[in-house]
Amino acid sequence: MPSPRKPKSAAKKSVSIASGSNRLIVGISGASGIVYGLRLLEVLKGIGIETHLVMSKSAEVTLAYETTVKVAAVKALAHTTYSNTDIAAAISSGSFKTRGMIIAPCSIRSVSEIATGVTSSLMSRAADVVLKERRRLVLVVRESPLHTGHLRTLTQASEIGAIIAPPMPAFYAQPETLADLVDHTVGRVLDLFDVDAGLVRRWRSDDQ
Ligand SMILES: Cc1cc2nc3c(=O)[nH]c(=O)nc-3n(C[C@H](O)[C@H](O)[C@H](O)COP(=O)(O)O)c2cc1C
Repeated sequence: MPSPRKPKSAAKKSVSIASGSNRLIVGISGASGIVYGLRLLEVLKGIGIETHLVMSKSAEVTLAYETTVKVAAVKALAHTTYSNTDIAAAISSGSFKTRGMIIAPCSIRSVSEIATGVTSSLMSRAADVVLKERRRLVLVVRESPLHTGHLRTLTQASEIGAIIAPPMPAFYAQPETLADLVDHTVGRVLDLFDVDAGLVRRWRSDDQ
């Protein structure tokens, strides 16, 4: 039996009160729209937020179908990456402080696991931990059309505290490229964490 670690000094403890405030968990699951996860990682890296990435096996499949980007290049965008089977990873515990978690894109399979608390992977376990710690969980759920079972699952996830933020384009921002559409969604997701990366063309902000 390993001996318990010695508690750190009181002085060290008081310094660490705000720890986790610059840390975000990013999950990428196997829904279409892997570009949202990639752009999110890129933007967070650019503004110095410490990202902790977990990607599902299906996300690796969609990555290959939807882009020419390699898995290693995605992982290189993150501060730390974990295997989705590593249920002992730091992000599987609430004692590892973070600001919350974004899953982008989020598949119906993943949101279903989260809604029911089944948590058979690190991704759903980390999301469950974020919810139990009353931190922010934003799910960029992508599927269409939705049957009643999907809608019930989304309601259930919302009822336990998740924010359901499907990647729906906002045309009032007058996007000219696909990158504009992606940036608007990523920017609005980051708004939910009070992070302004300058990606959002805000409604009527040009009038002032
Ligand atoms: C190219 C491709 C696109 C997919 N798009 C979606 C999608 O938009 N939404 C969804 O819920 N599942 C989608 N799937 C199916 C998921 O990948 C599948 O349900 C998988 O089991 C999800 O596992 P995960 O949640 O562990 O990533 C897609 C699969 C492929 C190969």
